[in-house]
Amino acid sequence: MKLTIIGSGYVGLTTGACFAEVGHEVMCVDNDEAKVATLLHGEIPIYEPGLEEIVRNNVAAGRLQFTTDTPEGVAHGDVVFIAVPTPPNPDGSVDLKFIEKVAREIAPAIKEYKVVVDKSTVPVKTGEKVAETIKRYAPEAEFDVVSNPEFLREGSAVEDLMKPDRIVFGSNSDRASALMKKIYEPFVAPLLVTDINSAELIKHAANSFLALKISYINAVSAICEASDADVELVAEGIGMDKRIGRDFLNAGLGYGGSCFPKDIAAFITISDQLGVPFDLLKEVEKINRQQLSRFIERIRQKLWVLEEKKIAVWGLSFKPDTDDVRCSVAIELVEKLVAEGAEITAYDPKAMDRVKDLEVGSKITLANSPEAAAKGAEAVIVATEWPEFANVDFNAVRELMLSPILFDGRNLLDPGTMETHGFDYEGIGRGSLEE
Ligand code: UGA
Repeated sequence: MKLTIIGSGYVGLTTGACFAEVGHEVMCVDNDEAKVATLLHGEIPIYEPGLEEIVRNNVAAGRLQFTTDTPEGVAHGDVVFIAVPTPPNPDGSVDLKFIEKVAREIAPAIKEYKVVVDKSTVPVKTGEKVAETIKRYAPEAEFDVVSNPEFLREGSAVEDLMKPDRIVFGSNSDRASALMKKIYEPFVAPLLVTDINSAELIKHAANSFLALKISYINAVSAICEASDADVELVAEGIGMDKRIGRDFLNAGLGYGGSCFPKDIAAFITISDQLGVPFDLLKEVEKINRQQLSRFIERIRQKLWVLEEKKIAVWGLSFKPDTDDVRCSVAIELVEKLVAEGAEITAYDPKAMDRVKDLEVGSKITLANSPEAAAKGAEAVIVATEWPEFANVDFNAVRELMLSPILFDGRNLLDPGTMETHGFDYEGIGRGSLEE
């Protein structure tokens, strides 16, 4: 099928590339000329495992094209996906100006029947607004609006798209639904077709539920610390219940990234606006904030004054397998330690170039390996659970450090093994080996 994707960011680019990979003819539109030039060379502006190869192969095969010309893009596709950013406003609501702009821009370019699909994460009832806008700017245009939320995770985006758990779309038109089903036929996955409003809600409700699971186990981790229990065993024990499941029960510094913090805030705002305040989610946010504060408090307890303390931070991205540092808890941690006068040397396998662009980037030292970061440090903090951190030579690291204190903010390491290597280990919800 001929498909158009407006917006070549994380979701747009990965979706477009995977659609091309299964044989669709895809044209991606982006108003950033430099980005389009990069993509036309088969290079990608982000780090995402497996994506570059798919982009390169499909550009070479002619199934994946890029343009800055919106009318050209709209003319190409029978179905036009909107995948532009929906950033947060300061009050937590969603800024929909990019969605509205795309609706205005594509309207006059619709010369024959099109399905306009919203893939960006948007508040419920945005689909109605998109349809109204297109109608206002092009009263004769023949089109249907569909909501098709995306459930990919950064770091495993290609796999999530190629082998999804489920495909959800909301449509109020049989004609549009038939085309959507055809697009997704090559992806063998359970399909749920709903009305537009329900599909929009599914996205916010799914992300909020996952965040709730994380905050739940983080709240339990605080109780484990106070009662000398081990949150890893508790998570295993409750996760063995099929109704609960072990996924997203990893206690740590809390959730970050470009989705959860924004989407939970948006869902809270939407429910307030609808007159049905979602207080449970306010608690989820509160627990998430407390998790980082409690961790910093534990660091203070151990190191006393943080000023002039040399601390190594391993991991800066908001999770492993990505270079994304947007709303990264690791970055927030570094900012808070720097504000208290700590001298931070940090290492991340992929995100260091991104950190250089941040304000805090100029206030810390970036090292080229975990060992180099640990040299002369009074403590090492694991802030992001990159698997390579578990495989360093810990005896060598201990020798390099001024004092062998290890704060594991993601429970990546085994406390007993770390003790054997001579470390004073502090994890999350694992009590303290000293106690
Ligand atoms: C999330 C959802 O998982 C996707 O399904 C969704 O499509 C996406 O948002 C989106 O809305 O676009 P993502 O933000 O890429 O994906 O990453 P996650 O793997 O969900 O992790 C989010 C945060 O939660 C990370 O900071 C991670 O460290 C944290 N987390 C995750 C935990 O602290 N504990 C866990 O058990 C799992």
